[in-house]
Amino acid sequence: MEPKTNEIADREKTYDTLTAALVQMARETESPLSLLANAAALLNMHLEHINWVGFYLLHDDVLFLGPFQGKPAVSRIETGRGVCGTAVKESRIQRVDDVHVCTNHIVCDAASASEIVVPMLLCGKPVGVLDIDSPTSGRFNAEDEAGLAAFVEMLTRELAARGYFPR
Ligand code: SME
Repeated sequence: MEPKTNEIADREKTYDTLTAALVQMARETESPLSLLANAAALLNMHLEHINWVGFYLLHDDVLFLGPFQGKPAVSRIETGRGVCGTAVKESRIQRVDDVHVCTNHIVCDAASASEIVVPMLLCGKPVGVLDIDSPTSGRFNAEDEAGLAAFVEMLTRELAARGYFPR
């Protein structure tokens, strides 16, 4: 697929294609870490108007920075803190249209204006998050939520199949 095709009208189609590309990538590696790294690269390559995309993985109520693309970021976030920690606490997608008026937002890149955080859920329990920042306010809409939720669900399933979340 061509890079940077996420025009407004194309979002649903773009996410379908991205999830299909993820499944293809998963077939090509047995390494969960490689899959996470390539998933971040895939999203960074194809989503427009973003400045950070990556994963935090949950260990004992703390989110630790995982594979990402963008500026260096905070390496640990406690459950309930920030937008990421809130997504874990509530097991719910967080969409922030304007991070400057969000009191619970942890700044990693001053250029960020909006953010979406999608929890990675295994058997209904959070095991990590996908976090995406944008320099454009209101960048993410309901189609992004639905498309990213499907992407993350598939990714979490593939990671679990590789034994990435021992319980
Ligand atoms: N803004 C996030 C912190 C992570 S960075 O955006 C990469 C938060 O509030 O949890």
